[in-house]
Amino acid sequence: MTTAAPAALDLQRAAREHLWLHFTRMGGYRDAEVPIIVRGDGCYLEDANGKRYLDALAGLFSVNIGYGFGDEMGEAAAAQMRELPFYTNWSYAHPRAIELAAEVASLAPGDLNRLFFVSGGSEAVESAWKLARQYFTARGEQRLRAAIVPTGGDPLTRVDEARGAQVAGRRWKAISRHIAYHGTTMGALSINGIPALRTPFEPLVPEVLHVRNTNRFHRPPEETEQEFTALLLDELEQTIESAGPDTVAMVIMEPVQNAGGAFTPPEGYWRGVRQLCDRYEILLCADEVITAFGRLGAWFGSERYDIRPDLMTIAKGLSSSYAAIGGVVATDRVMQPFMQDTSMYAHGITFGGHPVQAAVALKNIEIMKRERIVEHVAETQDEFRATLEQLLDLPIVGDVRGTGFFYAIELVKDKDTRTTFDDDECETLLRDFLSPRLFERGLICRADDRGDPVVQISPPLVAGREEFDQIVSTLGDVLAEAWTRVQR
Ligand SMILES: Cc1ncc(COP(=O)(O)O)c(C=O)c1O
Repeated sequence: MTTAAPAALDLQRAAREHLWLHFTRMGGYRDAEVPIIVRGDGCYLEDANGKRYLDALAGLFSVNIGYGFGDEMGEAAAAQMRELPFYTNWSYAHPRAIELAAEVASLAPGDLNRLFFVSGGSEAVESAWKLARQYFTARGEQRLRAAIVPTGGDPLTRVDEARGAQVAGRRWKAISRHIAYHGTTMGALSINGIPALRTPFEPLVPEVLHVRNTNRFHRPPEETEQEFTALLLDELEQTIESAGPDTVAMVIMEPVQNAGGAFTPPEGYWRGVRQLCDRYEILLCADEVITAFGRLGAWFGSERYDIRPDLMTIAKGLSSSYAAIGGVVATDRVMQPFMQDTSMYAHGITFGGHPVQAAVALKNIEIMKRERIVEHVAETQDEFRATLEQLLDLPIVGDVRGTGFFYAIELVKDKDTRTTFDDDECETLLRDFLSPRLFERGLICRADDRGDPVVQISPPLVAGREEFDQIVSTLGDVLAEAWTRVQR
C-alpha cells in the first residue's frame, strides 16, 4: 500500500489507452494527439493546450444556449441533488418531471400535450416507433372491446384469431428518408437512411422503407418547386401503397433534414405529408432532436412549418446538452387508447425523466425565455444567411442552404454542372484536409460526406455578428485553400 499522493493523470496517454471515441477511427490516434476539450464559454471552447476554438457546431447541434451558463445550470442541478437526487418515472412521478412535462407541453404546438422522457435522441426515436406500434394495437383492442363487450367475457379470446388480428389492426412498419440520421440504437438505426451506418449491423429491425429526401440541389434546373413537391408526395404515397397501408405505423422525418446537408422542405411538402398520413391513418413523427428549442428560429420546427405531427422526438436542445435528457411528445389523440382500461405503454428506462436532468432542462428553458434566445435566432437569421452566402463567391461552394442557425455548404467540383466529388476525392478533401485544417484554424464545424460533401454549420443560438464573421472568414480561407488542392 502506498501513501504517496496519486500522480496527476497523463490525460493524453490515458485517452489513447482507455477511451473509445464514438464514430472515430481510433487507429488514427496511435501516433496523433487526441483532441481534449477542457472548458467552454459562450460560443467558444478551449483545449488542453490552451488553444481556443469557435464552436460553429454547438457541440453536436445541441448546446443551444452556448457554454456560458454553467453556474446557473450547475446550481439547479446541485439544488435538485440535495432535494431528490433520483427517483424513477416507472409508476411514480416527481415534481421536476411533472413541471418539465407541463412546460414542454405549453411550448409545443397544437395538442402535443403528453411527455414520455428518455435519455437522448436515439432512445426518443426508438420510443416513438415502439409507441406508434403499440398505439395501433391499443386502438385495435379498444375497438374490439367496443364491438363485443356487451355480450360479456374477454373480448380478445372471444373472436376468432383472423378477425381479431384484422380488427386489432396491428401495424409495425416505419417510413423515413434516404440519408436521414435518426440515431444508433437498433430501432433508430433501422430508421436511418445512411447505408454505411446500417450495413455493418444487418439484419436490422423490420421493416423500414425509405423515400426521397428534399434535396433539390441536384434536381433538373427546369423542375419547379411545385413539381418537386408533387414528385416527393407521389413517391411517398406509392411507398405507402406498396408497403400495404394497414401495416405502416409511422412516417418519421426531420423538419429540416440534417444528414446530407440542411435539406429544407419545398413549398407544400409538409401539408402533403400530413394529408397522406391522415388518408392512410399513419402516425406522423417529426424528429426534432436537432430542430426543437430554437434552432430554426421557433421553439419547434413543427411550428415553423406547421407540420402538425402526432409525435415529436426531442433531446439535445431540451437541456442545451447540459444534461442527458430527451423525450417523445404525443398528442391527446395518440394518448387516448392508452388511457383506457388496463392499457399501458409497455416501455421504460431507468433514467427517463431523471430529476436532476429534468431540473437542468427546466433551467435551460427558463434561460432561453429570459435571454430571448429563440427571438434572437428569428431576428438575426437573415443576417447569418447573408454572411454565409458570401461563400458562394468561391468556386468550390455550390450551395448554401438551411434556415435559422442551421446551415450546410455543399462543395462541388464544377459549379455550373454541379458535379460532386467522388468517394476518393471526398476522403482526401474532407477527412485528410478540411476537417483537420478547420480545427487547426480554430473553427469547429463538420465536413460531412454521408450524402454529397457538405460543411455543416450550426452554432450556439447565442452567436452574433462577431461569430458570423469569424465563421465565414475562416471557412473562406480554408475552402479557398481546398480549391487550390483540388486544382493540382
Ligand atoms: C434527427 C436526429 N435524431 C436522432 C438523433 C440521435 O440522438 P442521440 O445522439 O442523442 O442518440 C440525432 C443525433 O444527432 C439526430 O440528429
